[in-house]
Amino acid sequence: MSSESFTRVVRASALAAGAKLVVDISGKSVLLCNSNGRIHAVSNICSHAHEKLEDGRMGNGWIACPIHGARFDLATGNAKNPPATRPIAVYAVRVVDDWIEVEA
Ligand code: FES
Repeated sequence: MSSESFTRVVRASALAAGAKLVVDISGKSVLLCNSNGRIHAVSNICSHAHEKLEDGRMGNGWIACPIHGARFDLATGNAKNPPATRPIAVYAVRVVDDWIEVEA
């Protein structure tokens, strides 16, 4: 992938450990999560019933949907427990000069 496809979204210093933030990238609702010492970018939309994940509880490397409790692995997007069975999208992330850049 070329570097041109990354979009600069927010200062890395604005996303503390354990924090999450929703950003809009070309019409996609993307959830940034600082979890397990890593910044992840995943779809903000649950694969079960298309509810927003942004208010969900976050643990080490996962986010839980606030509606029915499915958890998703932030690195792979895979559903870790029902009722979701399908993964959510994950996007490549990099930090350049304290900016978080996402390929979405
Ligand atoms: S909408 Fe997320 S688990 Fe049902």
